[in-house]
Amino acid sequence: MTIATRSGKGALCALAFLGFGIAAPTPNSPEAAENGVLIGPSGVEVLPSFRNKFPAADFNRPVTEPYWQTEIIGKADDSVKKTLDAMANASFIAFEPEFYQVLGISDYSQEKEVEPIFEFPRALLGLTVLFMMAACMRQSVTASLLPSCTLPRRGFSMQFLPWVWRTSLNGSTPVTEKVYPNPPLTIANGAHYFNGSVYWAQEGNYTTPGGIVRMNPITLQTEVVLNNFMGHRFNSPNDVVITKSGVAYFTDGYYGFANFNDTIKPELANGVYRWDMAAGRVRMVAGAGTGLFINPNGVALDATDDILYVTARGFTSADADGNRNIYKFSRSDEQGMLSPPQLLTYADAGFPDGVKVDANGRIYGGVAGAVDVWSKDGTLLGKIKVMADDTAVNMAWVGKWLYIFGRSRIYRVLLT
Ligand SMILES: *[C@@H]1O[C@H](CO)[C@@H](O)[C@H](O)[C@H]1NC(C)=O
Ligand SMILES: *[C@@H]1O[C@H](CO)[C@@H](O)[C@H](O)[C@H]1NC(C)=O
Ligand SMILES: *[C@@H]1O[C@H](CO)[C@@H](O)[C@H](O)[C@H]1NC(C)=O
Ligand SMILES: *[C@@H]1O[C@H](CO)[C@@H](O)[C@H](O)[C@H]1NC(C)=O
Ligand SMILES: *[C@@H]1O[C@H](CO)[C@@H](O)[C@H](O)[C@H]1NC(C)=O
Repeated sequence: MTIATRSGKGALCALAFLGFGIAAPTPNSPEAAENGVLIGPSGVEVLPSFRNKFPAADFNRPVTEPYWQTEIIGKADDSVKKTLDAMANASFIAFEPEFYQVLGISDYSQEKEVEPIFEFPRALLGLTVLFMMAACMRQSVTASLLPSCTLPRRGFSMQFLPWVWRTSLNGSTPVTEKVYPNPPLTIANGAHYFNGSVYWAQEGNYTTPGGIVRMNPITLQTEVVLNNFMGHRFNSPNDVVITKSGVAYFTDGYYGFANFNDTIKPELANGVYRWDMAAGRVRMVAGAGTGLFINPNGVALDATDDILYVTARGFTSADADGNRNIYKFSRSDEQGMLSPPQLLTYADAGFPDGVKVDANGRIYGGVAGAVDVWSKDGTLLGKIKVMADDTAVNMAWVGKWLYIFGRSRIYRVLLT
């Protein structure tokens, strides 16, 4: 879950199928690699020399800004600015050769398009806060994706809104529109498609406790299926994932209270819950006041359901000393407890919000400016970029298409 604050007026929808990210097409020119960055027609490769030694005498970058917005302090060669511009304009940034396998191209000199397919409407005046996560729907069952998007009332609190956005993929062009779950969700966030239904993590509000809501994706009929831990309200459930055997893992954080002022004061520590849906067993399996999770966020399972990934944020996303981590746990159906956590990665820009895993076990995290892609061992392979000033919030796989939900837009990119 994230927020973005913007001003100004904007158009509804539009922007389908526009390519972006056209950097200077100077592949292989020696000049292009001058600062340790190879510049292609739609992407760049950042070489170890650039990564090891930033080519300016003095520089700095706040934790919420992406790599290419590193500030050069004082004087620097013009070419450094041009290099950062090329990174800013690119649609991908490669750090490792394996990233080209992910993109299905041979190297930086080949084109790769990241296609914006929808732009969320902005308020005509004043502030707009978008907050959205994706429901992971499988195309074989129903060809739609369901990011939720809630616009708050002016000021601090998030306003309850009765719709979610649905992208229909059954025609030749994806169509994104508002649909109305019934009864409505109360601040919907992450979701997971399981056994014919969409399970939403909903934050809740002052009068409706948060929890997990099951929705029929065809009729949009909803039913609350979990709303408490032994009579306690959850704080504000953020994301949920479910194993093939029906064990759900969901995150609970202080987002609703601390960031949005749309839930009552929490009574519980934050953490990751395991919910055996058939047995009705709910237990905290990570966090629980131990400090690992101030604010856990996205959850994902690998293809075998043996590995659980959980993303974590600090008290705010701008906390310099806060979490911007993805933790890896081993799990099994027999064993209720998770393995001890392993720190898979500490993200360099913003924090990993939503997380997804591909068929080869690579991990994808939505961060400021891009979707970061890591190998199983946590090596950063590359960045699939979203448009300038957008932040990737979550993703969903539909076959080999990765749909990316940004604060401002929905994108898709065909991967291998
Ligand atoms: C980046 O894009 C901007 C705006 O489109 C353009 O002015 C600039 O020349 C581009 N820079 C590079 C290095 O491609
Ligand atoms: C809380 O959510 C319910 C829907 O579940 C809605 O009817 C109510 O207006 C919301 N309350 C506030 C204060 O937004
Ligand atoms: C695709 O799905 C949408 C929403 O369910 C429906 O309105 C539309 O008619 C469908 N289009 C096709 C081509 O099947
Ligand atoms: C899937 O749903 C059906 C009813 O629609 C139920 O009988 C079955 O137990 C469910 N499977 C799992 C794994 O929960
Ligand atoms: C939070 O919301 C409550 C209820 O709407 C309101 O009384 C309070 O002033 C709000 N707090 C902040 C910090 O906006």
